[in-house]
Amino acid sequence: MIDLTGRAVLVTGAARGIGAAIAEAAAHAGARVGLLDIDADRLRHTAHRIGPAAAWAVCDITHEDQIADAVAALREELGPATGLVNNAGRNAYADPLTMTTDQWDEVFGVDLKSAWLMARAVLPDMLTAGHGSIVNIASMHATLTCPGMFPYAAAKSGLVGLTRSLALETGPHGVRVNAVSPGYIETDLLTEYFDREPPQVRQAATDKHILGRLGSPHDVATVVTFLLSDAAAFVTAADWAVDGGVSARFT
Ligand code: NAI
Repeated sequence: MIDLTGRAVLVTGAARGIGAAIAEAAAHAGARVGLLDIDADRLRHTAHRIGPAAAWAVCDITHEDQIADAVAALREELGPATGLVNNAGRNAYADPLTMTTDQWDEVFGVDLKSAWLMARAVLPDMLTAGHGSIVNIASMHATLTCPGMFPYAAAKSGLVGLTRSLALETGPHGVRVNAVSPGYIETDLLTEYFDREPPQVRQAATDKHILGRLGSPHDVATVVTFLLSDAAAFVTAADWAVDGGVSARFT
């Protein structure tokens, strides 16, 4: 039902998890997709699985020179991008008293600054085209958080703020910018989180979802492809929760 025919869409962190599902769903909707990630082996594997609609570039999205090279290479293969999904992210489990400034910069480099760097690299083509859609994968931690994940909530809240701010700057030129805030989604990242917690935490988290289950990468990908498409033509500066209702609960 969602039609992205003729679009070129770049997805960061596309080697696995939510990013891979987004790239796959966008290709399924007719887009040519450019996959970016630091994990070269999995990136190649995911791109091959998607097929001829996919191109890939190994890229650490915290480095602007690598972004410039990757975006230029993907532009050669796919044409100018009018879709961008800033999905790459990492969890953080720091102690606010012992965390170093380098560690702080690492978290914010991946979870916040990279979204601006990627947008800055891709926006000229969107402005030339007179349309575009950027989707930033934030988190329910942008509004509610839990102990032991400092400063993830700060970075993801910043990403929602960046979404609003960028939407205001680019909207007059036809570019929409939205955030998607997933809840618990079954990926390697979530497994990594549950592995740090007592065994009962997984079931307790599942039980708190109104819909009685954790989310899948596909659950997020379908909302993202909608936001990329013209079906969402009047949607900008929004933050879409995809969390099975877990954030509606007080306790
Ligand atoms: P994941 O860890 O399974 O995949 C993340 C991908 O990003 C990996 O392929 C990794 O290599 C890549 N990546 C990390 N740092 C990078 C860098 N500097 N440059 C390029 N690529 C890099 O994570 P998952 O679960 O798929 O999460 C995707 C996004 O969704 C993240 O932004 C995460 O914060 C967010 N999210 C995930 C939730 C979950 O429950 N899985 C919940 C809420 C938000």
